[in-house]
Amino acid sequence: MNDPSLWWYVTRASALVAWVTMTISALWGVLLSTRILRAVDNPVWLHEMHRWLGGTALTMTALHLLSLMLDTWTRFSVTDLLVPLAADYRPGPVALGIVAFYLLLAVYGSSLLHTRLPRRWWKALHYGSYGAVVLVSFHAGWSGTDVGTWGYRLVAFILLVSATVAALVRTLSGPGRPVTDASTPQPRAMPRPMTITAVRPLAADIVGLDLAPADGTILPVWQPGAHLTVHLPNGLQRRYSLCGDPAERNCYRIAVRRMPHSRGGSAWVHDHAVPGTVVGVSGPDNHFGLEPAGDYLFLAGGIGITPIKTMIESLPAHRSWRLIYVGRSRTTMAFCDELERRWPEQVSILARNETGTRPDLTRILAGTTATVYCCGPASMTNEVTTLVPATRLHVERFTAASTTPTASRRPFEVVCARSGRHVQVTEHQTLLDALEDAQIPVVASCREGVCGACAVHIINGHVEHLDALPLTPERNAQNIMYPCVSRSRSPLLTLDL
Ligand code: FES
Repeated sequence: MNDPSLWWYVTRASALVAWVTMTISALWGVLLSTRILRAVDNPVWLHEMHRWLGGTALTMTALHLLSLMLDTWTRFSVTDLLVPLAADYRPGPVALGIVAFYLLLAVYGSSLLHTRLPRRWWKALHYGSYGAVVLVSFHAGWSGTDVGTWGYRLVAFILLVSATVAALVRTLSGPGRPVTDASTPQPRAMPRPMTITAVRPLAADIVGLDLAPADGTILPVWQPGAHLTVHLPNGLQRRYSLCGDPAERNCYRIAVRRMPHSRGGSAWVHDHAVPGTVVGVSGPDNHFGLEPAGDYLFLAGGIGITPIKTMIESLPAHRSWRLIYVGRSRTTMAFCDELERRWPEQVSILARNETGTRPDLTRILAGTTATVYCCGPASMTNEVTTLVPATRLHVERFTAASTTPTASRRPFEVVCARSGRHVQVTEHQTLLDALEDAQIPVVASCREGVCGACAVHIINGHVEHLDALPLTPERNAQNIMYPCVSRSRSPLLTLDL
C-alpha cells in the first residue's frame, strides 16, 4: 500500500472503467429510449442492466476520487476534488471531471427516484448523462498522465465513436413511442374521421369493428394496452381498447360489448354500426402500458380481454406469463377459442357456467410474485387491488371504482384562474356539468372517472378524488383532478382553466 505507483494504477483503472461503463450506459439508454431494444424484447433486465452500468460508473468515479487523494504524486485534497477550479494540477480539465461527477450523481439519483419524480423532471435530469459523457471525454483527454500512449488512444477512440453512434441513433430514431401520461392533460386534437370497414360478431353481445382512416392516411402507432376514444354520430364518446395488430397502420380494431344498461354508446354501436359509417376517433392513448417484467399474470374479465390480448401477443415466446380469463360462459367471451388454441399451456378459461362458482382470486393470486395486469369489471379489479401490492399491479377498469363522496355532496364554487370566471356547482351537479353549463370547455369522454380525458390541474383547494385512474407520482406532483366525478372538499376550488 506504500507503493506510490499503486494508487496511480487504481486511479487510471477506475477512471477508465467509469468512462467505459458510463458510455455503454448512455448507449444502452439510447437503445431503450428509442425502443430499438424493446422492439426485440421487453424483459426487466434491459432496464436493470442500464441501471447497473450507471451504478458501476458512479462507484468507479468515487474510487477514482478516493485514489487521487491517496496518490502521493498528485496530492489532491477533498476541496481540490469536489470544488471546480480549486486544484493546482490542471484546474480546467479537473473541473470538467468534477462537474461530470455531479451530473452523474444527479442522473443516477433521479433514476433511483424516477417513480417519485414527475416524468419530465426525471427526463430532463436524465439528459444530463449525455453532458457527463462529453465532459468526461474532455476531462480524460486533458488531465490524464498517459494520454499519449497508444492503448489510451485506442480506448479513447472506441469510446468516442460509441458516444457519437449513440447520439446519432438518438437523433435519427427520434423519441420512439410517444408516451402518453394518464395524469397529464393532453391538448386534444380534432377527432380523426374513420370509416367502419367491417363489423363482425366475436361473441354473444360483442362485435368487432375495423376502422380505417377516411382519408387513407397512415395511422399513428400504438402499444398494447392503448385505447381509442370513439365519437359516435349520436354525440356520445366512448373509449374502447385496441385489439388488433399494432403493426397494421391502415386499420384499427376494437371490440364493443353491448352493456346491459347502455346509456347509448354500446347500444348505438350494436344497433347502427355498419360498414361505411363514419365516426370520429381520438387517440390512441395509453394509460395501461405493458411495463417490462420477468413474469406476468394477466387477469381478464369479460371484454377486459381486449387490451390483455394485445399484451400477450406482444410478448416474446420465451417470456413467462399466465392468463386467467373469467366470464359468464364461453359464448359470451371473445377470443376464447383462439387464445386456448395458441397458448394451451398458459391460458385458463374460467367460465362461470362451467365452474359453477365465482373465481377464487385469493387462491389464484396466492404466492405469486408476478407482475399482475388486470382488466375487467369493478368487482374484479376492486378485489385484485386488495390482494396484490400496488408496486406490481396494473389495473384498467371499465367503470369507476365504487367510490362515493365521503364529504356530503355540498355545493362549492370554482374559480377558473385563466379566464377569471367563477362557477357555482350545486350538490346535484357534477363539476364537469357545471363547467359545461357555464360554456367553459373541458374535453370529456367516459364521464365516469375512468378514461382520464377530462383531467384538469388544481391550483388551490382540497379535492375528493372519486375517479378510478391510478394515483401516479406524476399525477400527485401535477395536482390533477377529474371533474366528471371528483368534487371539492373546500368551499372554493381554483382550477387551471
Ligand atoms: S371524462 Fe373520463 S375521466 Fe372524466
